[in-house]
Amino acid sequence: MNDINASQKNSKPQLQPARGTQDLLPETSLAFRKIDELAFAQSRLYGYEPLQTPIFEFSDVFHRTLGETSDMVSKETYTFQDRGGDSLTLRPEGTAGIARAFISNGLAQNLPLKFFYTGPMFRYERPQKGRYRQFHQIGVECLGLESPQSDVECISLAYDILKKLGIDKKAQLQINSLGDPESRKIHREKLVAYLDQFKNDLSAESKIRLEKNPLRILDSKDPGDQKILQGAPALKDCLNDDSKKFFADVLAGLKALNIPFEVSDRLVRGIDYYTHTVFEFVTTELGAQGALIAGGRYDGLIEQMGGPKTSGVGWASGIERLALMISPELFKSDQKIIAVLAADDIAISKCLQISQALRNRNFQVEMPLSGNMGKKMKRANKVGAAYTVIVGSTELEQKTVTIKNLGNGEQKTIPEAELSAVQFN
Ligand code: HAM
Repeated sequence: MNDINASQKNSKPQLQPARGTQDLLPETSLAFRKIDELAFAQSRLYGYEPLQTPIFEFSDVFHRTLGETSDMVSKETYTFQDRGGDSLTLRPEGTAGIARAFISNGLAQNLPLKFFYTGPMFRYERPQKGRYRQFHQIGVECLGLESPQSDVECISLAYDILKKLGIDKKAQLQINSLGDPESRKIHREKLVAYLDQFKNDLSAESKIRLEKNPLRILDSKDPGDQKILQGAPALKDCLNDDSKKFFADVLAGLKALNIPFEVSDRLVRGIDYYTHTVFEFVTTELGAQGALIAGGRYDGLIEQMGGPKTSGVGWASGIERLALMISPELFKSDQKIIAVLAADDIAISKCLQISQALRNRNFQVEMPLSGNMGKKMKRANKVGAAYTVIVGSTELEQKTVTIKNLGNGEQKTIPEAELSAVQFN
C-alpha cells in the first residue's frame, strides 16, 4: 500500500480518458439530450413509462441470461469483486436488468408493462468509430404481450424515432425469426449435422461455436465460413407452423404500416435470450458498426431468471451512433439570447436584477462580468446574443435601459418600467 502511495505521489495522473471512453463535450451532449428527449416523447405516445435500473448488478443477472458463450459474456463484461466479496458486473445492456427489476419489484400483477430507459452501458470491445467501451443506449421493453402485433408496435416506435431524427431513409430494417424453442432445437440439430461435415475447414472461432453455440456461426464474417454457410439449413425451413404464423403476422403488420423491411435469414443476433422475431435497423453510413437499433422477442427470459412466465419484446439503440448520423440543425437551440451589459460598475446590481427578470420570462441571459464595454460586447457576440440591454450611469439616473438589436443594429432607449413588455422578437 505504501509503495502505491509513494509511486502515486511521484507520477502525474493519467490525463487521457480510459480507452474506449470519451468526454461528451457540449455539442455532443446536446445531441445526446435531443435524441433522448425525442425518443422518450415518441415512446410516451405508445404508452411507455420510464424505468431506470442500476448501472451494476450481481454478475449472474447478465452471465446467466445473455449466454455464457456469447461474446458479450465471455469477452466483454466488466466484472469485478466488490469490497464485500460480491461479484458485480457493469451492465453491458439493459434488458436483463429490466427483467430482474420486473421480478424483484413483483410487477407481474400489472401486465402488460412498457418501459423506456436510457443510460450508459459497458462492454470491453475493440474501440472504433461507433463502438466504445462506455456507450449509451436508449431502449424500450414491452412485457406481457404475446401477440405478434406487439412486435410490430415496438418496431414501429423505433421507425418513428428514426423519422423524428430525420434518418429513417438512411437505415434499413432487417428482420428474421428464430422461431419458438421447438423450432430452434430442430434447426440446431440440422445445422450441427451439416456443419460437422466441414468441421476441419471452419474458422477457429466457429469450431468452438460448433460445440457451444452453433447458431452464432451464421453470424461469422470469415470468408471460408461464409462459403460453407451457403449450403447450411435455413432457419425459415425449420420453423414449425406456430412460428411461421407468428412471423407472417409480424410481417403483415409491418406491411400494413408501410414500414419497409428485408427478411434476412442470417440475422441471429449475439444474445441468447431471443425467440421468434429478431430485427436490426442497419445503416451503411457508419462503416463496420452498422447496427443503429437492434432487438427482438425474448419470451423465455423472465422465467429463466426465476420469474413467472412472461413474454417480452424490445430494442435498444446506441445514442453515439444516432448522434453521428443526425444533422446538427436538429439540436440547435432556438432560444433567444439576451446579453445584459453594465456600462459602469455602478449599474451592476441593476443589471443583475434585469437579468433575473428576463430569465423569469424564459430568456437565456448572458451578463458578461469582466472587462470594459468592448470586451463585454465581444462576449455578447460570441454567445450569439440577439439583443443587448445596456445600463450605464446615465440610464441608471434616468431610470431607462438601452436596447440594441444586434441583427439590424437598431437601438432605442426606453423607460426601465417598459422593459417587461418588450417582446425581443
Ligand atoms: P445489442 O445489439 O447488443 O442489443 O445493442 C443494441 C444497440 O446498442 C446496437 O445496435 C448499437 O446501436 C448499440 N451498441 C452496442 N454495442 C455498442 C458499443 N460498443 N458502442 C456503441 N454502441 C453500441 C441489446 O443491447 C439488447 N438489449 C437489445 C434489446 C432490447 N433486445 C430486446 N430488448
